[in-house]
Amino acid sequence: MCDKLKSVRWVFDCTLWKPTVSEILLASSCIQQEEKERLGKFVFQRDIKSSLIGRLMMRKYISEVCNKSWTDIIISRDTNGKPYYKSNDLPINFNVSHQGRYTILAGEIGDVDLGVDIMEREYKGGKNIDEFFRIMNRNFSNEEWKSIRKSSNEKNQINKFFRFWCLKESFVKATGTGITVDLQKISFNLNTESINLNEFVYDTEVFVDSVKLNNWIFQETLLPYDHCAAVAIHIKNTCIKINPIENFTFLDFKQLTDKAKPILDEDKSFCNDFFEKDICPN
Ligand SMILES: CC(C)(COP(=O)(O)OP(=O)(O)OC[C@H]1O[C@@H](n2cnc3c(N)ncnc32)[C@H](O)[C@@H]1OP(=O)(O)O)[C@@H](O)C(=O)NCCC(=O)NCCS
Repeated sequence: MCDKLKSVRWVFDCTLWKPTVSEILLASSCIQQEEKERLGKFVFQRDIKSSLIGRLMMRKYISEVCNKSWTDIIISRDTNGKPYYKSNDLPINFNVSHQGRYTILAGEIGDVDLGVDIMEREYKGGKNIDEFFRIMNRNFSNEEWKSIRKSSNEKNQINKFFRFWCLKESFVKATGTGITVDLQKISFNLNTESINLNEFVYDTEVFVDSVKLNNWIFQETLLPYDHCAAVAIHIKNTCIKINPIENFTFLDFKQLTDKAKPILDEDKSFCNDFFEKDICPN
């Protein structure tokens, strides 16, 4: 019998979350020690929050699909830093991304590779857009640049640019290499010109070294405040059926932690350090 993937798409708006002392104490006690130490080195509250939420999302996802207590879950990282959970019962896949105001998680059960990325479609680099595109030239194929340049105005060109970037990141996050590979060789063909709120685009194709990869699916959508999201799924067993996605589900802190169980003691010093940090760069 063919497997139907059990799909989860979650989004958390980190900008709306103004954590209380007890929330930071709870959240920081529900992640592994090495992750807490990593987060403690971040300079801004903004970056701690977005990564912390990603770690909580992973635990919630694993706990729900494997029916396990938070305290029984150990999340590892592979040699490229990609988090994974080894389950003897289920082929469990998840990936998180945090950028702009959101942290998102995609999860699938099945014989797939999974990567996800989110990008705010706003250019904040300061240089003029032609100069920015020139610097980024080597990361996009000729076909992708043609597609970007043919967009009718600067905003649409920026939108297209970030859409391609998001697709590329989702792809290299699914393979697990990250952006250590030559991104120009990974080229996307957009069959649907634009992405919209509350709709998923499924017909984007990927070419590597000009060869089309047939067993990849990309699910793209737009989230509020102009953020594009892409989920890349590499289907390793052709029998697998992918469910159409309704939408990303928004979670708040209460929903995220409703079944959370601390795995570490409360750490007042981590909490004090967090509140002493600047929220974000000026
Ligand atoms: C992985 C990479 C693409 C992330 O891109 P990004 O746009 O900066 O960040 P995103 O918000 O989309 O994703 C970050 C999350 O992806 C996950 N992640 C980390 N490495 C990953 C990888 N190699 N593949 C897939 N996912 C990865 C993590 O959950 C990470 O969040 P966390 O560290 O807070 O848990 C980028 O860091 C990269 O290319 N790294 C190169 C690989 C590398 O240098 N690894 C270091 C070896 S330790």
